[in-house]
Amino acid sequence: QDDEDLQPRPPVVTVMGHVDHGKTRLLDTIRRTNVIAREAGGITQRIGAYQVTVELEGEPRKITFLDTPGHEAFTAMRARGAELTDVAILVVAADDGVMPQTVEAINHAQAAHVPIVVAVNKIDVSGANPDKVRGQLTEFGLVPEEYGGDTMFVDISAKQGLNVDKLLEAVLLTADAELDLRANPDMDARGATVEARLDKGRGAVATVLVQSGTLHVGDAIVAGTSYGRVRAMLDENGNPMKEAVPSSPVQVLGLTSVPTAGDLFLVASDDRAARQIAEKRQATERAAQLAKRRKVV
Ligand code: GTP
Ligand code: NA
Ligand code: MG
Repeated sequence: QDDEDLQPRPPVVTVMGHVDHGKTRLLDTIRRTNVIAREAGGITQRIGAYQVTVELEGEPRKITFLDTPGHEAFTAMRARGAELTDVAILVVAADDGVMPQTVEAINHAQAAHVPIVVAVNKIDVSGANPDKVRGQLTEFGLVPEEYGGDTMFVDISAKQGLNVDKLLEAVLLTADAELDLRANPDMDARGATVEARLDKGRGAVATVLVQSGTLHVGDAIVAGTSYGRVRAMLDENGNPMKEAVPSSPVQVLGLTSVPTAGDLFLVASDDRAARQIAEKRQATERAAQLAKRRKVV
């Protein structure tokens, strides 16, 4: 792939951290501060991923958030081959400090070579001790910039919305400093399934993240062992989209069955090819299941 075909793409971010440290609250606050989404759609729905636009040094910049908090989702996706996350936000409650799942989250992110931005949360609570959190995390290799390290720490209150803008800035600065996030938009789309379900009226509804190429309405796609033709695409506000560029999350209608979160998807040359690829995979899966059953007997 030629270098000149590559265009900058937004970072894809996962929020991780110990139970009750504020992951969901933070994701909700970030989504609500996204003025554009609020104006366009009113009530946003949970579709497993969303995108916000923030300003950095006078430039509008997008960030994609995977709204599937917790490292279980992260590891489940990785187990299926999906490497979606570019940057991890590690949420640590300032009144609780580093806890077992904080350490687990650090291990998962470091194993995946995903840079971490630390959100020291709940600084509005009495007993909050953000300096202690900084000291604790230094022992896990996360040394704050102000101590001469290269990890950005931001003290926030997800509840009050305090410094959430600074956190988003830190995510972009970290991505710019440590990653080369580019993709070619001028090819058939590839990416991964973030979540999927069966809707009574609309059939299979899959939220996918486009990782490279551009996905169009009318494309024949395969996701895991599911296939179909993209009948419609919707953003997180339910607005129709004609195409989805790299790092965009999008709801896809038109698959004939429900894929599994983490399933990779690709665009096939036509309906027939999509169906053949899916059926071949289904046969392989059935054979593997049969072999497993024989072994048990
Ligand atoms: P799990 O999904 O169960 O792991 O928890 P979580 O990390 O998603 O935490 P959640 O966002 O549900 O927050 C847990 C509790 O802390 C909730 O009652 C939140 O309202 C509260 N909380 C989150 N952030 C803040 C904050 O900045 N300040 C205060 N005072 N409370 C907060
Ligand atoms: Na909770
Ligand atoms: Mg939660």
